[in-house]
Amino acid sequence: MSHFAYRDGMLHAEDVPLPQIAAAHGTPCFVYSRAALLSRFEEFRQALAGRDTLLCYAVKANSNLAILNLFARAGAGFDIVSGGELARVIAAGGDPARVVFSGVGKTKDEMHQALVAGIFCFNVESSAELERLDAIAGQAGKRASIALRVNPDVDAKTHPYISTGLRSNKFGVAYAEALDLYRRARVLPNVDIAGIACHIGSQLLDPAPAAEAAEKILALADRLAADGIVLRHLDLGGGIGIRYRDETPLPVAGYLAPVLEKLAGRKEKILFEPGRALVGNAGVLLTRIEHLKHGEEKNFAIVDAAMNDLMRPALYDAWHDILPVRQAAGATAEYEVVGPVCESGDFLGHARALAVAEGDLLSVMSAGAYGMAMSSNYNTRPRAAEVMVDGNQIHLVRERERIEQLFAGERVLP
Ligand code: LLP
Repeated sequence: MSHFAYRDGMLHAEDVPLPQIAAAHGTPCFVYSRAALLSRFEEFRQALAGRDTLLCYAVKANSNLAILNLFARAGAGFDIVSGGELARVIAAGGDPARVVFSGVGKTKDEMHQALVAGIFCFNVESSAELERLDAIAGQAGKRASIALRVNPDVDAKTHPYISTGLRSNKFGVAYAEALDLYRRARVLPNVDIAGIACHIGSQLLDPAPAAEAAEKILALADRLAADGIVLRHLDLGGGIGIRYRDETPLPVAGYLAPVLEKLAGRKEKILFEPGRALVGNAGVLLTRIEHLKHGEEKNFAIVDAAMNDLMRPALYDAWHDILPVRQAAGATAEYEVVGPVCESGDFLGHARALAVAEGDLLSVMSAGAYGMAMSSNYNTRPRAAEVMVDGNQIHLVRERERIEQLFAGERVLP
């Protein structure tokens, strides 16, 4: 069931008509459905029921505190990539003991911060990082739990910018080097080998590459065991795709089945790090048409949201459905849906058939993941407000930025 649907020709988020949100909080505005977020989480929980698992929500997909808090209360762990994300998790009531820390460039300060917080595991991505972590843990009088993020060299068959499991990527430790690095980790005094991790890419629809990666990770885990290195957990990353246009993603259980099949009978705890699959379809970007412009070749619907609010179309040529909030009976025309930013790449959708007028509201769908989280202040545009709907309730979960905030930290020379 979609939590964003038309009722009597008006698009709703759960029980709230979207114009009510625009009236209360303005546009552009990200709107999330609490029920959609929780039902996706529940889908994962059920797919993993009966196994020793930890579901670590990838905070980078959407780091709003209200969303983190919702998942924390539902029992989630978190996958973070910075000290900033760790601070958010803690501020939102998340349990640091359920946090895995990914990323190729962890600083000494971030390592220290995570050690003091007592996170579950560092996903280490290089030998340099391993040595640094051992040193920082020693100074802090701590032992760092680690997994090596191993690059299984499988082709995730997704957009090259979001594919991460190939040998040519900057991510992870090469498969062939992993054994040696685990042997090194074993003799480091301040490091405790806890597991192994991998993540092959994002927006994956076919589970075969994930199953292939799992198989390679298991083979490595067994090879390590033969060496006396016994892992307590296997972290299989995130990457599960969603429907943006006409994709037909499997239900979570269906996607995970071939992966879980490979894991039958294993003793290790299993971790997953989904981001997009939990939040992507649980949010929309609500925007208002400022002007209609009928050019010589094309028609433009110039809206008040732009590439700084939702970068995915400009950055990946990603498709997001764009729906009129009020269904109109009139004739449609084909529009380039664009923002006010001074870049030709500032578009939200090409050639969309819409029956619209100036002042109408549009809803850019599937904007819950990598929307607000990747937004910027380009063109000195305040970032959008964020709202979470719960039934017929509207909760403002992030105020619209004010212009003074944008340059409050800047100074002119005396
Ligand atoms: N774990 C690791 C180590 C990751 O690098 C990522 C995403 C995830 C988990 C979560 O992946 P997900 O389940 O959300 O696919 N900005 C791009 C996506 C970048 C993904 C980066 N890593 C987009 O808008 O499509």
